[in-house]
Amino acid sequence: MIIIKTVHELLKWRSLITTKSIGFTPTMGALHDGHLSLIQQSKKQCDISCVSIFLNPLQFGENEDLDSYPQNINEDIKKIEQVGVDMAFIPTADEIYNKQDSFMVTENILSTRLEGESRPHFFNGVLTVVAKLFNLVQPHSAYFGMKDAQQLILIQKMVQNMKYPITIIPCETIREKNGLAMSSRNQYLNQTQRNNAKVIYSALMYAKELIIGGEKDSQKIKEGMKKIILSMPGFKIDYISIADTNTLLEIEDNISINKETLISLAVFFNDVRLIDNIWI
Ligand code: PAF
Repeated sequence: MIIIKTVHELLKWRSLITTKSIGFTPTMGALHDGHLSLIQQSKKQCDISCVSIFLNPLQFGENEDLDSYPQNINEDIKKIEQVGVDMAFIPTADEIYNKQDSFMVTENILSTRLEGESRPHFFNGVLTVVAKLFNLVQPHSAYFGMKDAQQLILIQKMVQNMKYPITIIPCETIREKNGLAMSSRNQYLNQTQRNNAKVIYSALMYAKELIIGGEKDSQKIKEGMKKIILSMPGFKIDYISIADTNTLLEIEDNISINKETLISLAVFFNDVRLIDNIWI
């Protein structure tokens, strides 16, 4: 595996690849089986598989966990080497951002809903770094997890709107045995807390069953989900949403199995913010 740390080296590496297909998985490190499944998918579909590991400061708000975000670069390198990554781009912040930078990629509609309401700068930070990484790596396909549903939807929109010749491949959420979605932030939880965090998935499954059973009233479904989550001490709800996957607007009534629906939530569990969702 080649490790590249600078933009200059990366562009040189990229200029030598003329005929092979490149699959790209951007990450912020603290890699887990969810990340590795994205890479495995990229390896199945592309000739060359590359990964970036970059803790993007631009997508963290002032009171968020940038300084404590889990980092273990040596472990990450071992893991991606084992799954057969060809190139890892591991830049410093100075390689990606310049103090004089005066441009950002912003989106004004979908990015203001759901996660965007709680984290107003988050998606502009994500879209800006992903656009820069796309410009540098110039992949043919890029792999994103469905766990970050709104991020995936926004990146798909960015690629369409900005005419990037890149195919975005959505990948299934990988879960612990008890249903907890894998996330780098799970490292903040001890084993008992991880076990208890199963209520998040139980609440999502409860909603799915009600909808399949014909329940149309979203308020009733959300109330039931809230009860399941709050049955476990230590949980606070940030939001629970049942939204149209195209507009990310809430579906108030007339929920139906025939509509593309995203059931998503963000909760605080002992101050750790966790998100999860299911698509129906
Ligand atoms: O999902 C993530 O890990 C990040 O938001 C991403 C896409 C790597 C951008 O920093």
